[in-house]
Amino acid sequence: MNHPYPGTREDAMSAASTTRDLREQARARLRPGNFQGHTPRAGAHHTESEAIEAIGAAEGRWFNSARYGRRARVTAVAPLTSTGTVRVSFEVVDGLPFRFDPGQFVGIEAHFKGLGYRRSPYCILSAPSGEPVFDLLVRVVPQGPLSGYLASRRPGDEVAFRGPTGRSMVPPDDDRALALFATGTGVAPFVSLARHLLAGGYAEPITLWWGLRLAEDICLTDELDELAAAYPNFRYAVTLSRPTDAWAGLRGRLGGSVPPLLATLGATRYYLAGNGAMLEEMAFALSDMGVDLKYLYKEPFFNGTHQADPGVVAEIRERFVATDLFSAHANRRGTAFDLDAARSGKAGNGDPLAVSDLFDLMPAFLSHHPAQGELRPV
Ligand SMILES: Cc1cc2nc3c(=O)[nH]c(=O)nc-3n(C[C@H](O)[C@H](O)[C@H](O)COP(=O)(O)OP(=O)(O)OC[C@H]3O[C@@H](n4cnc5c(N)ncnc54)[C@H](O)[C@@H]3O)c2cc1C
Ligand SMILES: NC(=O)c1ccc[n+]([C@@H]2O[C@H](COP(=O)([O-])OP(=O)(O)OC[C@H]3O[C@@H](n4cnc5c(N)ncnc54)[C@H](OP(=O)(O)O)[C@@H]3O)[C@@H](O)[C@H]2O)c1
Repeated sequence: MNHPYPGTREDAMSAASTTRDLREQARARLRPGNFQGHTPRAGAHHTESEAIEAIGAAEGRWFNSARYGRRARVTAVAPLTSTGTVRVSFEVVDGLPFRFDPGQFVGIEAHFKGLGYRRSPYCILSAPSGEPVFDLLVRVVPQGPLSGYLASRRPGDEVAFRGPTGRSMVPPDDDRALALFATGTGVAPFVSLARHLLAGGYAEPITLWWGLRLAEDICLTDELDELAAAYPNFRYAVTLSRPTDAWAGLRGRLGGSVPPLLATLGATRYYLAGNGAMLEEMAFALSDMGVDLKYLYKEPFFNGTHQADPGVVAEIRERFVATDLFSAHANRRGTAFDLDAARSGKAGNGDPLAVSDLFDLMPAFLSHHPAQGELRPV
């Protein structure tokens, strides 16, 4: 293919810095929260429209004020962590159409004494099954009315909701790998997406990088391990920002621990979900590394208007080792996370990243960052 930066690595780096200057200028024109990346597919409100039309037809009139008029019954509530993460399962009981794409959310409404009605979106954790059922992954936020409400539901309770609505995360058919970056419950839409795509035969690598605070926050590993065992092209790794000494996995926030592990950045779509601060900072860093905005997709759950700190973005950028987007081989088809190549000969076995995988990558990392040794074996 014709690449805009043919020539030596020095030529490429110089062109890269020109590109960065242009990006800085473009960035100066952005306001907080409006750097939302691109949706892989057009906005999808079709399922909600179908339901609203069905309600209108049933009542002999069109109305759009009953968006939270749908009903779902709780079928199970499972606390997943001691730190307040809960899976709530629902069956839709209003008899109206219910279908969704991974990445879409339902809006939950409840009335609170002294607060009035509160409404918040929750991304669907389960994969589409054709049945009118869905699971949510809820983080109980201290003093948070709706998260507390959902976590305290009991089987048989009914909740009011709207949707499903929001953007589909299903990528267009192409040969790009998927790199999924989640903090906290931002993992929910990615579990839905990975399950859906893998069951449908998606053949490209899907790697989930999940940032949590404490070992006690870790959950869903049985399901993720099962997926990794069943599909060699799926892997995941948890990185803990506040691990104990006993933690043998990745340490630090996503922006610290993951960039040194990405051997290449091309031929990949990047999906970011969870804390808006992570999304903004990681998106800017990836963009600075040459990732085209059309391959960046963001779903902020909160902190949606966080303005990325240039110093933090620079620190993340400095930790990337991949240079392929500025090389003559840019966008070549292949794995973005060249763990197998880095492990020189070890066949991918579908397991989640093991500590030994990370140690194998240390030479590449340390040759770029000799002063940064926090990924050293402990
Ligand atoms: C598109 C979208 C999808 C979402 N999907 C999910 C989901 O799948 N699971 C989920 O738990 N939440 C999700 N949220 C967040 C959710 O909508 C609520 O904001 C959250 O449950 C807090 O609501 P609350 O009424 O309990 O507390 P609020 O008083 O509304 O929130 C209090 C504070 O809690 C923090 N907070 C909010 N959400 C989270 C979170 N998920 N993790 C950690 N801290 C948080 C923020 O700092 C917020 O200001 C999503 C938000 C959006 C915009
Ligand atoms: N701030 C605290 O000390 C603290 C402690 C416990 C609970 N809480 C509150 O408890 C609730 C639940 O929190 P949660 O753990 O589910 O979600 P969260 O606050 O989004 O944290 C999840 C993970 O995201 C990391 N993170 C935060 N900002 C980031 C950024 N800009 N880039 C990359 N990673 C980032 C966190 O690291 P860090 O650990 O470095 O933040 C943590 O590892 C929230 O309301 C939170 O405010 C806060």
